[in-house]
Amino acid sequence: MAEPVAVWKELEGLRGDALNEWRVSDVRNNASYEERNLHTLPLPFGWFMVAYSDELEVGQVKPLYYFGQDLALWRGEDGQPRMIEAFCKHLGAHMGYGGRVSGNALECPFHAWEYDGQGAVTKVPYAKKIPPSAARPCKQQWHITEVNKQILVWYHPFNEEPKWQPDSFDQVHDPDWTEYDKYEWIVHGPVQNMAENGVDAAHFKYIHGTKSFPEYDFEFDGHKRTASVDAKMQTPKGEVDGTIAYGTVGPGQSWTKFTGISETLMVAGITPIDQGKTHIRFAFTQPKKEAEGPMANLAKAMRREICRQLDQDKVVWDRQKYKPKPSICDGDGPILPFRKFFAQFYAEWGDDGKNITKLKIDKKAG
Ligand code: FES
Ligand SMILES: [Fe+2]
Repeated sequence: MAEPVAVWKELEGLRGDALNEWRVSDVRNNASYEERNLHTLPLPFGWFMVAYSDELEVGQVKPLYYFGQDLALWRGEDGQPRMIEAFCKHLGAHMGYGGRVSGNALECPFHAWEYDGQGAVTKVPYAKKIPPSAARPCKQQWHITEVNKQILVWYHPFNEEPKWQPDSFDQVHDPDWTEYDKYEWIVHGPVQNMAENGVDAAHFKYIHGTKSFPEYDFEFDGHKRTASVDAKMQTPKGEVDGTIAYGTVGPGQSWTKFTGISETLMVAGITPIDQGKTHIRFAFTQPKKEAEGPMANLAKAMRREICRQLDQDKVVWDRQKYKPKPSICDGDGPILPFRKFFAQFYAEWGDDGKNITKLKIDKKAG
């Protein structure tokens, strides 16, 4: 068993449905975004997951709220997902609710104006002429791709083109590997605070109850960050040795591979809802012969342990204040190099990573 940890009490008794509900619930009595300095962090740019592929069938429309915006996502007859601002240019109906797919276009529920994937109105069924302002594509264009059975969009506050492509993993489509086992959380904190967790070497012992500090190898490379750790994992068969390789691709995509214990690939989507809220999704796949055979319990324990660690972190993240100048000691991991690395995703900070030239304050913040 892992050592009892400080957040034990917060999570005590949470199991099954109650635990799943706690993972996505609102937090009561937490301080405002301003008190927690969250309004000082812009939304990072990058590829972000907005849905699993199997959550969007051909002809389906989904309302979304990410990046501080109301959005409508749909899948056209050609199988392609498309996403535009949710509010109709005509009289402002939210097209995610009651909107329909017509061919590859999105039809507004109010007066049936039709939109293409660029947000241009292509048809007004009862008018001879489409108003020119409506016929123009939207300023914000969403690049969209499907990879690892996930739908990802490229967010950039100044609408710049994608600067990299997301990573893809063959195991996800390998018939010898399991279908995804999925988990999700809404964390009441910004992407940066969560991403920092991976380099925070000291917290593993205190909040996750590992017996020692893990020995890390870190690498920061352009928009990617990787680490590998020799780790001891708690399993029903006691503590076992293994290797954890971990990587992030921009701020929104991350993966973890375990070897030596029960082989596991976890593909995560980390998507900002607004400046102080983040949607986290974990999808696990494992070799079927391990996940469904006599090793099944061990494979399951691996998944449960990863989720348990996220639950423990969430207790802190939900109320954590962003400290722009933290006090750091020698036993901490490379937290300051990490922050420098992460600042590259803040377009509003420009190249020096210090000056906030233009910062979006989310309307739902507070
Ligand atoms: S509000 Fe959308 S068509 Fe009128
Ligand atoms: Fe953690």
